[in-house]
Amino acid sequence: MKFTVAIDGPAASGKGTISKRIANFFKFSYLDTGMIYRVIGLKTLTGLEPLDAVAGLNENDFNLPNLRNEEVSKAASMVAKNPAVREALLEYQRHFSRREGGAVLDGRDIGTVICPAADIKFFVTASEEVRAKRRFKELSLRNNGIVFETVLADLKSRDQEDTDRATSPLRMSADAVLLDTTKLSIDASVETAIEVISSVYK
Ligand code: DC
Repeated sequence: MKFTVAIDGPAASGKGTISKRIANFFKFSYLDTGMIYRVIGLKTLTGLEPLDAVAGLNENDFNLPNLRNEEVSKAASMVAKNPAVREALLEYQRHFSRREGGAVLDGRDIGTVICPAADIKFFVTASEEVRAKRRFKELSLRNNGIVFETVLADLKSRDQEDTDRATSPLRMSADAVLLDTTKLSIDASVETAIEVISSVYK
């Protein structure tokens, strides 16, 4: 059976954790589409043309080291603005969304562009402050020289780039269920999401 869950939202909103837990609960396949842009971004840093990087995309690339570092995050954000790159990645993501046994995809444009007919859509968000604190905590585990103000500034500039770009900007789809994790814990958000999905996925 095919069943698609589309999850969008800004960086550090908790959408990755929520998506993984939903996928785990329902035994759906999971695709973190941000990782695709990170892999393409990383490859452009080594001198590859973005479209060549797309053509050579391989699932093993999602395990490359350093995909979450700041330099790669910036490169990912740059390639994500490129309409030709987004177009070239469309079918790969749609194909994944139609996997037998259900699929969860998370990103920025899943409910609006990639899977507009998804069975369920969620938009996961939280205040800038809360998201920056989460990202700071995560980055501090790997680098104790990290400064909160820098993390907050980077997050704001990335949000702006994702929201202001001309092609597939970050938007909440009108038919998405909003999960605001500013006050609602991740556990409570997962519970809500599972209830919503269970009401239509039998
Ligand atoms: O979710 P993330 O931080 O790993 O995403 C990395 C970058 O890719 C970020 O700048 C947003 C962009 N992205 C996108 O434009 N569309 C998606 N579906 C997923 C991510």
